[in-house]
Amino acid sequence: MSLVIESLKSYHRKLEFSCGKEMLDIYLHRQAKQDVKRKLSACFVLIGDEKKLIQGYYTLSSSTIPLNIVPGNIKKKLPQSYSSVPATLLGRLAVDNNYQGQGLGKLLLIDALKRSFEISKSIASLAVIVDPLDEKEEKFYKKYGFIVLPDSGKMFLSMKTISQLFK
Ligand SMILES: CC(C)(COP(=O)(O)OP(=O)(O)OC[C@H]1O[C@@H](n2cnc3c(N)ncnc32)[C@H](O)[C@@H]1OP(=O)(O)O)[C@@H](O)C(=O)NCCC(=O)NCCS
Repeated sequence: MSLVIESLKSYHRKLEFSCGKEMLDIYLHRQAKQDVKRKLSACFVLIGDEKKLIQGYYTLSSSTIPLNIVPGNIKKKLPQSYSSVPATLLGRLAVDNNYQGQGLGKLLLIDALKRSFEISKSIASLAVIVDPLDEKEEKFYKKYGFIVLPDSGKMFLSMKTISQLFK
């Protein structure tokens, strides 16, 4: 089986994608292409042997986080005069129902982290952040080392930690 992760294009079959979370389906069906066009987010899709069928997707955008919510051990090494620091937002990540439980969520997450790390070499970013929608999502990201930033609804994985994955 061949698997390719590539930028969302108009020939991809977006409307057939269904992951069990309506918000994530509707986003891909109706909004992702516009967001890409308007430079609000980049969207990457996982394609298998059926060339145009989307098995999973994720989005990345530039973001910032207030310095006061950065974990203490990292914050103490940063200039305290900064009110916020750059981060990369992994806005959405989903796998189609027909392909869940086969390691594709993990594959997409690793690809998103690697891409974020590579880009951080030319556009600095302190961490990858996510906004989990519920406890299940939180559990998924915790599994891969993301930590909860208290009172923000966000989770955080430092670029330093990510860099160690891709040495
Ligand atoms: C969550 C989701 C992305 C996982 O994708 P997947 O392809 O089914 O997951 P994988 O097969 O790659 O599983 C990777 C690991 O995460 C675990 N996992 C999968 N879904 C999980 C969940 N909802 N909560 C916690 N852990 C989860 C798996 O058990 C697996 O662990 P293992 O490697 O120890 O066996 C997918 O189920 C999905 O799109 N769900 C609906 C949309 C959603 O909730 N998106 C937010 C993602 S956080």
